[in-house]
Amino acid sequence: MSNIVVIGGGTMGNGIAHTAAASGFSVTLVEVTDALLERAVSTISANLQRGVDKGKMTADEKQSVLSRISTTTSIESIGDADLVVEAIIENVDAKTQLFGRLDTITKPSCILASNTSSISITKIAAATKRPEKVIGMHFMNPVPVMTLVEVIRGIATSDETYRTVEELAKKMGKTPIEVNDYPGFISNRVLMPMINEAIFALYEGVATPEAIDGVMKLGMNHPMGPLTLADFIGLDVCLAILRVLEDGFGDPKYRPCPLLVKMVDAGWLGRKTKRGFYTY
Ligand code: NAI
Repeated sequence: MSNIVVIGGGTMGNGIAHTAAASGFSVTLVEVTDALLERAVSTISANLQRGVDKGKMTADEKQSVLSRISTTTSIESIGDADLVVEAIIENVDAKTQLFGRLDTITKPSCILASNTSSISITKIAAATKRPEKVIGMHFMNPVPVMTLVEVIRGIATSDETYRTVEELAKKMGKTPIEVNDYPGFISNRVLMPMINEAIFALYEGVATPEAIDGVMKLGMNHPMGPLTLADFIGLDVCLAILRVLEDGFGDPKYRPCPLLVKMVDAGWLGRKTKRGFYTY
């Protein structure tokens, strides 16, 4: 595996490119504009600099990590890729369209991975003529820090593809965990109902946000309470994932709390809008 391509240089894509390059891989980062590429590389540089400041790496090591990252706005130029990790916006049409294109651009042996947090890997794979080479590689935010990669097998994903990606995740210093393709995989299927239940508890006046988070932090040893975590993830993202669970399973137990829907309607999306369950 010598040629890794990351598509999308946002929150997740720049973290994936950073981690792959820091593990010795050559990485090509693809974005839609040069300005977005510059922003992604400067984010990676700033994050590496924090490592230098803390004495975890030298300035030379930082430079050599950066030198392994090349950038392009031309997706047509990635024909040589051995593995593509897609980290564009969470939208089914955007992803299926992109995978259809990647299928025609990349060589037949190339593995196509998606970092989607909620879209069916099986559906994304069906947009290609190589569903056995399509797989989910679900990194956690922030990628350089979090060790888990949820590796998701679509209905047609081959054992060979799974093993290659498992090996790659390990070489990136991560711990891969195998999961089959059902809505929310494991991470969001377990996390989002917990967050939703915390919001219902607030909605019903059972306790204040601080009290709900305090119980989960002190009583369950969670590093962050569920409402703080929801603000961090983004309330719009939480709502969208709950809708995926609700639609995908057709089960009302995933019904998003009306308070969550109302806050998203108000544009109170958490940290990124400076207002969610807390103000920032
Ligand atoms: P983001 O919005 O920060 O970044 C997405 C980037 O993709 C943008 O910079 C955009 O310009 C670029 N992009 C869009 N279409 C493109 C295309 N056709 N070609 C090249 N670049 C394109 O989004 P974020 O948060 O990084 O999420 C990316 C993916 O990762 C989504 O599928 C999301 O569900 C998933 N994810 C997000 C997590 C998070 O905590 N933010 C955690 C785990 C997965």
